[in-house]
Amino acid sequence: MNILLLGSGGREHALAASITLSPHCTQLFVAPGNAGTAKLAINLAINLLDFEKIAEACLKNQIKMVVAGSELPLVKGIKDYFLAKPELAHILIVGADSRGAALEGSKHFAKIFMQKYGIPTAAYQSFTLETLQNGIDYLSTQPLPIVLKADGLAEGKGVIIAQTLAEAEKSLVEMLQNEQFGAASQKVVIEQFLDGIELSVFVLTNGVEYKILPTAKDYKRIGVGDTGLNTGGMGAISPVPFANEVFMQKVETQVIKPTILGLQTEGIPYYGFIFFGLISVQGEPYVIEYNVRMGDPETQAILPRIQSDFVALLLANFNHQLHDFELLIDERTAATVVLVSGGYPEDYQKNKLITGTELVADSLVFEAGTTKLGEQTFTNGGRVLAITSFGKNKNEALALCYKNAETIHFEAKYFRPDIGFDL
Ligand code: AMP
Ligand code: GLY
Repeated sequence: MNILLLGSGGREHALAASITLSPHCTQLFVAPGNAGTAKLAINLAINLLDFEKIAEACLKNQIKMVVAGSELPLVKGIKDYFLAKPELAHILIVGADSRGAALEGSKHFAKIFMQKYGIPTAAYQSFTLETLQNGIDYLSTQPLPIVLKADGLAEGKGVIIAQTLAEAEKSLVEMLQNEQFGAASQKVVIEQFLDGIELSVFVLTNGVEYKILPTAKDYKRIGVGDTGLNTGGMGAISPVPFANEVFMQKVETQVIKPTILGLQTEGIPYYGFIFFGLISVQGEPYVIEYNVRMGDPETQAILPRIQSDFVALLLANFNHQLHDFELLIDERTAATVVLVSGGYPEDYQKNKLITGTELVADSLVFEAGTTKLGEQTFTNGGRVLAITSFGKNKNEALALCYKNAETIHFEAKYFRPDIGFDL
């Protein structure tokens, strides 16, 4: 079958690699894609949110399945759009409809959902401009640090961890009164700070069955030792050693099952990935956030470990045959190290020539912010590419990543030398 993948990051290059390995895939298209996906698929210069053009491309190219790499089209209702058009309704969409996608699109909705279905999460209250004073009063009753979250999508920037009451009050005013994050911060969730270690757990689900995918831990901060500004992700390790059987049993019983049951009870159909952003507080899992897609760069570490036919897995999910699907996982550890343009996540330069990728040995390279001009590839974003390697353990996998990180060159290249330092 012909498949369309939506997105343009390293995650999408990794998804494209797994999809094109499948005998079920005749031709893969990616909208808009990047220089990496162009090596495996036909890139279509279509914006993720241009549903009309996406629909047109689906019909023209006889697409039978659409895989949403990014949450944006899901939160904006691409599934609802396809279901409402008889000529598109037959196309399988790997991704939730807008109600399901609200698990990621609205932090307030996600908190109400978790509270209703008894899913462990930080205590919270939500406020709007009308209730700003109540919010300020609430803050003064809370221990510090305290977490403020813009309700809507804010490109990963909408979370503020305030260390002082003054900072918390100022942030609340900024968000509600000055719409610091635009419409996304018209509502703000204030929640208790949880002290622990984070990890990412993923399932593929059809709203009844679910399959747990390999765990991963990502490294979001730019600096060594998890310091400095938040980024889109600097690296990942899969599996996560502390996510042992005992811990994962708790995750399944306390988080995954009640989430699926909650979706059923709410009458929300769901065919796609759920990404549980978890924090382990003294061995107990709490949900920090839901995402309705795979993670970036976790996907670049997880998918290469999945040895089963990935499209067959997606089809088994649609056909309600997940229980019988045997998911084969490479037992080795996968490490991913992201190479970024110096300056990122603040200002950085683009259009720097990338050399040496052809010399990379024993590692996978997933491109993110790259563009091709003639035969040469140039940087085109902050996160340029990701190197994924396998090893008996994380140190062995990382050693290969770092060796290859030195093989690839572009001006002002930077990467974190300490991925996995806390595991
Ligand atoms: P999010 O955008 O929800 O993933 O939040 C970004 C980051 O903020 C998370 O990865 C955590 O590191 C941190 N964070 C969010 N909520 C909390 C919380 N309740 N307690 C501690 N850290 C948090
Ligand atoms: N790695 C975190 C995310 O994809 O949101």
